[in-house]
Amino acid sequence: MKTPVQFRLNGEDVATFAEAGANLLDVLREAIGDLSVKGGCWQGTCGTCTVLVDGVPRLSCVTLAESIAGRSVETAASLRHGADLHPLQSAFMERFAAQCGYCTPGMLMAAKALLDRNPSPSREDVVDAIGGNICRCTGYEPIIQAVLDAARGGARRA
Ligand code: FES
Ligand code: FES
Repeated sequence: MKTPVQFRLNGEDVATFAEAGANLLDVLREAIGDLSVKGGCWQGTCGTCTVLVDGVPRLSCVTLAESIAGRSVETAASLRHGADLHPLQSAFMERFAAQCGYCTPGMLMAAKALLDRNPSPSREDVVDAIGGNICRCTGYEPIIQAVLDAARGGARRA
């Protein structure tokens, strides 16, 4: 049986139907068509499916779609505005912080949540914020430096 679910996705109201027990990851990708959200393990262990729900990072593969009704969801698709990349996206490019790119959407969203609540994080803050996100390519250091670069850029623009 399908249940109607309405929520805000990247600032716009969306409505869809979700199978009982469906996870948010599958609903975002398959019912709504937001392919910026990636699945890796589908078991809550890799972090690649991270989205923000009311500004808080959540693993969409282990989030019941029905529980999102009335909430606000942000995915990596929200980051770029036309040709303008989000400072985190620019910093990831400049630091070569994405190689295969599979972890990148989840990393970006975990980092965005951090910078939204703490615009001047320490290195330890960054490490903690991406602690649940696995990357098999970069060794993490370029990602950490990219998030710190994005934070410094934001401070310069303020
Ligand atoms: S796909 Fe959700 S944590 Fe791995
Ligand atoms: S860039 Fe390949 S898993 Fe992170």
